Amino acid sequence: MNVLALLGSPRKGGNSEILADEVLWGAAEAGAGTAKVHLDDLWIRPIAEVMDNRAKREDTRSDDDFPGLLERFLDAQIVVFATPVYWAGVTAQTKCFIDRLSAYAWRPPYAERFKGKGYAVACTFAVKELEHGEWVTKPLQCCVDVLGGRYLGDVCASVYKKGAVREMADALHAARELGAKAVEQMQEPAG
Ligand SMILES: Cc1cc2nc3c(=O)[nH]c(=O)nc-3n(C[C@H](O)[C@H](O)[C@H](O)COP(=O)(O)O)c2cc1C
Repeated sequence: MNVLALLGSPRKGGNSEILADEVLWGAAEAGAGTAKVHLDDLWIRPIAEVMDNRAKREDTRSDDDFPGLLERFLDAQIVVFATPVYWAGVTAQTKCFIDRLSAYAWRPPYAERFKGKGYAVACTFAVKELEHGEWVTKPLQCCVDVLGGRYLGDVCASVYKKGAVREMADALHAARELGAKAVEQMQEPAG
């Protein structure tokens, strides 16, 4: 089983990446192969205009780095979206990636490869209330539903300074557990 973390923060070694590393660690302990990608290292443009007919859409901006990453995404059984809350939403890097899926998710031969994929989310933000993470988790749950995937869970941490989540043992533990449980869930039939 392959688990791919898509890191949406431009801050390398930041809090969401640290949580994602723990999720991947838990997944690896449960027997999965793991990899991670910094979206900010890639050239992924916002989506261009697409046709209303979803099965006939074309990606007119496919000369950037998106198609290569799409293959890695489609090959993964579990995708981890790791993103801080930026202005009450996911980061622009994450949003550009998700929007571009719209050019492929209903188009043969790609459409079949989207179905049944598992997703987990690692989310960080500055405000104290843990519910603030819902600015990220709720929209991503919605995306997973639309893509016909399985939402396997999330881990959220209220933390501001770079790397400070390393001191939050509970969040690190929850992230590791999420990774392990995500793999276990994907080994069970959906239901
Ligand atoms: C451009 C920008 C926008 C942000 N917007 C929010 C926000 O809306 N709510 C919030 O609680 N924190 C916000 N933050 C704080 C980050 O979510 C927080 O520092 C987080 O831990 C960063 O994660 P990272 O280290 O993975 O980048 C923002 C930070 C930046 C740089």
